[in-house]
Amino acid sequence: MSTVLVTGGNRGLGAETVRLLAGKGHHVVLTARDVAQGEEHARVVRAMNPSAKIDVLALDLASFASVRACAEAYRTAGWPLHVLIANAARYAPEGKREQTADGHELHFASNHLGHHLLISLLLDRLRASAPSRVVVMGSGLHAGVPGTPPSVMEWDDLDWTKAPYDGTRAYARSKLACTLFAYELDRRERERGIRANVVSPRVVPATLVRHTTGMRRFFTQYVMPLFPIARTPERAAASIVFAALDPSLEGKGGLYLEDDVAIRSSPASYVEADAAKLWALSDSLVGLAG
Ligand SMILES: NC(=O)c1ccc[n+]([C@@H]2O[C@H](COP(=O)([O-])OP(=O)(O)OC[C@H]3O[C@@H](n4cnc5c(N)ncnc54)[C@H](OP(=O)(O)O)[C@@H]3O)[C@@H](O)[C@H]2O)c1
Repeated sequence: MSTVLVTGGNRGLGAETVRLLAGKGHHVVLTARDVAQGEEHARVVRAMNPSAKIDVLALDLASFASVRACAEAYRTAGWPLHVLIANAARYAPEGKREQTADGHELHFASNHLGHHLLISLLLDRLRASAPSRVVVMGSGLHAGVPGTPPSVMEWDDLDWTKAPYDGTRAYARSKLACTLFAYELDRRERERGIRANVVSPRVVPATLVRHTTGMRRFFTQYVMPLFPIARTPERAAASIVFAALDPSLEGKGGLYLEDDVAIRSSPASYVEADAAKLWALSDSLVGLAG
């Protein structure tokens, strides 16, 4: 049985993934910003499955201090780490620009920088547990928001201090960063037995709806479920579990998976020079460089 770390395991696709993994007998360590919410989800899963082995750690990806404390708590617990699922994400399409105490735009910080730091700090655990996997949650939006130019890394404005702010575009670009990160991680670590893949859950209206108001909410709740790409949380979580554990993916990495099938992600996501640049820059922004 594997030990699997799931970020943002208290709700949404993360919570459903925790339920599925625990049901298969794996040891699940879920993280939550609000530990009480994480514990409550663990309690609900245990009520359905008394033998479920679930631990809860506090993690706010928007705080480097919190990320470091979470990695330290994981190491102190002495658990192996067979799979790390970088699931948690901020999605605030209607929100104004916000920044972290460390000075970074909140989508970029939470979705990319926080996971870059967490995974970097736990690389030795993943190496020690090899063959191991990292599953990074992507999004079809990584390619860009329909009706706007394709997403590219805007190196001189990663934190949206110059361009007019748009929450959906900030989310989209953060998911491009996540995708570049996953492919670079796979190139760097495959020789040490760690493989990294990206999962796009397609569109899951049931969890998206929480982030919307007004007409957008109505559309998400009643129209989106009719789209051919709409998925239930259960189906989307099954895709995450597939990427995490399915034997057919043993030794495979650098894939972008939709409905358990590898497809091409955007051209920008395959620019290796950009992935290497993002890695070095992120190391420096999170305080790992030198
Ligand atoms: N739903 C979709 O249609 C869809 C489509 C494409 C991709 N995805 C991706 O799938 C993944 C799961 O999405 P979901 O729909 O399940 O989202 P969700 O229901 O909004 O859950 C997001 C999770 O991330 C956590 N989170 C947000 N900001 C955080 C931070 N700064 N630090 C730590 N945790 C944080 C949330 O914690 P709180 O409970 O404290 O807020 C929550 O646990 C995400 O990576 C998302 O980008 C989803």
